[in-house]
Amino acid sequence: MTSNETLRSLPLPPGTFGFPLIGETLSFLRDADFNDKRQNKYGLVYKTNILGQRTVMISGSEANRFLFTHDNSYFSATWPYSTRTLLGPQSLATQSGDEHTSRRRLMVQAFLPKAIAGYLPGMEQLTDRYLKQWETPGEMTWYPLLRTYMFDIASSLLIGTETGSETAYLSQIFKTWCEGLFSIPLNLPWTQFGKALRCRTLLLEKIEELLHRRQQETEFRNDALGFLLAAKDEEGNGLTIEELKDQVLLLLFAGHETLTSSLCSFCLLLAQHPQVITKLREEQQKVGFTGTLTMEMLKEMTYLEQVIKEVLRLVPPVGGGFRRVVKSCEFNDYQIPEGWMVLYQINQTHKDISIYPNPQEFDPDRFSLDRTEEKQKAFGFIPFGGGARECVGKAFAMLVLRVFGTHLVHSYDWELLPDQNLELVTVPTPSPRDGLQVKFSRRR
Ligand code: HEM
Repeated sequence: MTSNETLRSLPLPPGTFGFPLIGETLSFLRDADFNDKRQNKYGLVYKTNILGQRTVMISGSEANRFLFTHDNSYFSATWPYSTRTLLGPQSLATQSGDEHTSRRRLMVQAFLPKAIAGYLPGMEQLTDRYLKQWETPGEMTWYPLLRTYMFDIASSLLIGTETGSETAYLSQIFKTWCEGLFSIPLNLPWTQFGKALRCRTLLLEKIEELLHRRQQETEFRNDALGFLLAAKDEEGNGLTIEELKDQVLLLLFAGHETLTSSLCSFCLLLAQHPQVITKLREEQQKVGFTGTLTMEMLKEMTYLEQVIKEVLRLVPPVGGGFRRVVKSCEFNDYQIPEGWMVLYQINQTHKDISIYPNPQEFDPDRFSLDRTEEKQKAFGFIPFGGGARECVGKAFAMLVLRVFGTHLVHSYDWELLPDQNLELVTVPTPSPRDGLQVKFSRRR
């Protein structure tokens, strides 16, 4: 434990705050090498000013361990003002302390193994339907289609909406809402933030309508909302409608934005590495997959799991996580002052050469039993974060990736069309600049 006096005598991390007011926000949002450039200059811990907050950027497995083991003592959950406002005051992602612990306990009910197994048949059906739809155009820009598919999966399996016009309407307003999450928080009719705020109101109206409808139903429905409506805390109290609205919004957001990005990376990386597709097909033959999955079969597909992990390592959908410093502390001989923000970095952790040799290379075998590179250091593989705030939907996410991956590889061929920009846009989640243009066909 460092005394207050010793703390105050420590230097602040190196780095600059950039311009008055906007700080270094524009480069942070637009420059994919923002962090690499500063890390080369200042090291693994440096200061900056982004999204209206003085922020310490920390990187590496030691930094992750420090942050995850001090969540709720030195740090509390926060997000930049724009994200916080759009998520709402009663969202798990912005709750902290005892409130967070008790709400999290209710939310995890929807992601326990029994619940997860119940999502499998519906997920397979929807996946099959979308894959068949994509056969007809032959050539397509895949990212927006993957987003619609993922939104359909999230809204029908998490909150039980009927697929069709209801989902299409929600998906459209969700897109504008998402675009405001990491924007400059200026609420004007033409700014990204202003438009996103109006979409939040529309989304909450829609969710409230749905909640009232569901409350009238007498039979339990096997979706995440069914579990949330039934969940009770230690005193026997359920979630109020006001809180449910924010929590459902969070699930819909977390449940489709990150997954669209990882599905897209999966499709891109496999198109660039056909030998991986061949190995996946061999594994499918070995476990006897012919068109319908069981949870047991998925458990046996260990190479598929390696491939998915490598996709999430190389292109993590969430680049990092914000915390507010609630008590000044010391890390790596620097002072981290109360009131600032800290951003831990998943992206950088996954490129650490002391854990992953040739970190830029796509190599699923690094997760094989005889290599297990991710186990070199604790908190060295953190696509889903860690500690008290580790992703609640991790098992759901892995199920979607496994189901989609299996059906796609089993029945389809796809190749990248020439002359497209595959460089990644990184905010809010990574996706290829031209949206991933492919030729798509059913295997003969
Ligand atoms: C939190 C990643 C899918 C729900 C997180 C965090 C990460 C993450 C890194 C921690 C952020 C932090 O430390 O502040 C991912 C990735 C996904 C994914 C990479 C897909 C590949 C999902 C899905 C759901 C979900 C499908 C729900 C259906 C949540 C929730 C939290 C969270 C509710 C907040 C947990 C808390 O604060 O206690 N996710 N996620 N995520 N995730 Fe996910």
